Amino acid sequence: MDILRIEGIKKSFKNDISFERKEILHGVSFFARKGEILGFLGPNGAGKTTTIKIILGLMRPDEGTVSIFGRSSRERSLKARIGYLPENPYFYPHLNLREFLTFCGNLSGMRGKVLDRKVAATISLVDLEASHKQRLKSFSKGMLQRAGLAQAILHDPDLLILDEPFSGLDPLGRKIIRDILLGLRRRGKTIFFSSHILPDMEALCNRACLIRSGKVVKNIGLDEIFRLGEGKVEVVARGFEKEIFEMMRDLIDKVEMNGEEFFLSVSKQEYVRAVVQHIYNSGGEILRVVNQHPSLEDIFMNEISGTGGEGEDSRRVEEKEFSGSGRGKS
Ligand SMILES: Nc1ncnc2c1ncn2[C@@H]1O[C@H](COP(=O)(O)OP(=O)(O)OP(=O)(O)O)[C@@H](O)[C@H]1O
Ligand SMILES: [Mg+2]
Repeated sequence: MDILRIEGIKKSFKNDISFERKEILHGVSFFARKGEILGFLGPNGAGKTTTIKIILGLMRPDEGTVSIFGRSSRERSLKARIGYLPENPYFYPHLNLREFLTFCGNLSGMRGKVLDRKVAATISLVDLEASHKQRLKSFSKGMLQRAGLAQAILHDPDLLILDEPFSGLDPLGRKIIRDILLGLRRRGKTIFFSSHILPDMEALCNRACLIRSGKVVKNIGLDEIFRLGEGKVEVVARGFEKEIFEMMRDLIDKVEMNGEEFFLSVSKQEYVRAVVQHIYNSGGEILRVVNQHPSLEDIFMNEISGTGGEGEDSRRVEEKEFSGSGRGKS
């Protein structure tokens, strides 16, 4: 059963000055299965937060349906099984973290010792034990982000919806949140989150849904991304005679250069041995042999820049170029 399914969502907003309506979401559809982490990727203004608000019932769509746990999202009782971290959460500045979480727990119907234990365990999970008596107004951005996650997971929801959970976090804070989310997935929870931080998304997600200008342009499994690179290998080498490029013309798609290192993109797995042999024979040194697959970032940039088409292979084999182009260190 899909835990979350949205189908054909359209949403328009009225312009405050001209009163004209402008469609922002043009029929957005996707789903998340149980125990899956689904990443929601898209550039600023693509419609992620609007979609999330519609899922949560904070905004009504013009058209389309949202079902959660196989039921209509309009059923209020479902809300108890959802945890939500808004893009810009509000925190009562005069409360400390323990008071804030106790307040949130009360709103979810939790009371007494059960709630006290849950609050303490959640504060420890988000690594804020040392600050739990501090008023929230003195929290840093990263600490507030973790406090926001704490309120989202406090009532042990089955579906977590997080709008930019990594925003404002340093690498340690990001790792803490990644580990928490992976732990929740191991417990069978379903997580749907938006983010711009592609390596985090790659490290966490089972699937990524890419949205651009209010339309889903790609819905891709991370396993599929790894398969996209099958057969392509990059050989990194140095110190060989450049004349061998002529002999390797049919074996290599592309050559790039960075300092004295050459990055040779070998067209097929079975050509690797021959390429390595040519390099050794001409006195060169092999530095690395790497199986290539596009990163989520490659796919994102390809789709978001508008060059990607539906079903198009996101690998872009550039024209054969044997003169050795410059290669950035990015
Ligand atoms: N209440 C509103 N009234 C009018 N336009 C709105 C409203 N909310 C959002 N929009 C517009 O809808 C579009 C999508 O906004 P949304 O906040 O969903 O984008 P986003 O993908 O979450 O962007 P970001 O990555 O910057 O958070 C934007 O062009 C925004 O200006
Ligand atoms: Mg947003």
